[in-house]
Amino acid sequence: MQLLENVSLLPYNTFGLEAKARYFAEVTSPDELRQLLLAPRWQNEPKLVLGGGSNVLLTQDINALVIRIAIKGIEKIKEDQEHVWLRVGAGEWWHDLVMYSVGKGYSGLENLSLIPGTVGAAPMQNIGAYGVEIREVFEELEAIHIQTADLRQFGAEECRFGYRESVFKRDLRGQYIITSVTFRLSKVPSFRTSYGDIQKTLADMNVEELSTRAISEAVIRIRQSKLPDPAQIGNAGSFFKNPEIPKAQFNQLREQYPAVPGYDTAPDRVKVPAGWLIEQAGWKGFREGQVGVHARQALVLVNYGGGTGEQIKELAGRVQDSVEEKFGIRLTPEVNFI
Ligand code: EPU
Repeated sequence: MQLLENVSLLPYNTFGLEAKARYFAEVTSPDELRQLLLAPRWQNEPKLVLGGGSNVLLTQDINALVIRIAIKGIEKIKEDQEHVWLRVGAGEWWHDLVMYSVGKGYSGLENLSLIPGTVGAAPMQNIGAYGVEIREVFEELEAIHIQTADLRQFGAEECRFGYRESVFKRDLRGQYIITSVTFRLSKVPSFRTSYGDIQKTLADMNVEELSTRAISEAVIRIRQSKLPDPAQIGNAGSFFKNPEIPKAQFNQLREQYPAVPGYDTAPDRVKVPAGWLIEQAGWKGFREGQVGVHARQALVLVNYGGGTGEQIKELAGRVQDSVEEKFGIRLTPEVNFI
């Protein structure tokens, strides 16, 4: 393992932000990670863990040891008539895993095609798209405690998954490093096409027979049509969560804005698309200097190149304030500020 000093994190975050890591190490196995954590030199040094850097906003240089997780490997560990269980290294790219699983004809991950980031980061915020969240295919994960370097398994219950939430973002924040995730995938396909855009896209593609591959291709098409490619325009996907509000508040809102979209999540809770609120507040396509709000999806803040984390943070604050002023709803960021 190589330990480097004063390393630019620009290639390691999808926002393409410049920030320097005081120390930087890349680990390729759980053993290597444990050795690093137990080394006396690093025991009391602050640490920051980076996966694919697809959900972070770097607002300053990092005066800490930045550990990049590059643990690879996809292994079939169990199989029965209907399912296979894949244990996957935390450093595998999420989309590579989806393509591997689609290639094998396993179903469960196809709706989650083209999400940037690594496998280890996926359970942190229970990634989800087009009607599926990873908690539905999650079996367990292994993680190493940062202070003691002890290895521990977490089942689905213990991860306490919620909408873009898990125990690793809350009670256990900053305490564990995920090293592998085991998924339970289906050999008998069960397709999820309820999300409106998928059906329409499949029809546009003239798909006659539904397959995991066709769904994956439809999702890729939809994402490419709305979401900027981080390789071209820096971004971290949705910047805010979609707010859930009490039904009474939603009904009031609808009296004032009859077009407001909303989806029931519980008998008395409604989820409102933050992208709609931001667009209505006039931000869609807004640009100031090198940062802005994406023109095709208002929920995505972008760095056109050379923008700073501080500028994005400031813009996010202005978007929050104006949405709150207009609709009485305070948006919560989905991205982690560092
Ligand atoms: N909308 C607008 N204007 C916009 C954007 C959206 O009016 O500029 C409204 C439209 O009514 C649209 C609705 O919002 O029908 C939903 O938009 P979209 O399907 O693009 O999804 P989203 O709610 O904006 C969520 C996830 C995405 C995920 C998509 C598809 C969150 C925070 N975001 O976005 O996840 O890909 O659904 O399932 O839940 C991510 O987390 O980084 C991410 C991209």
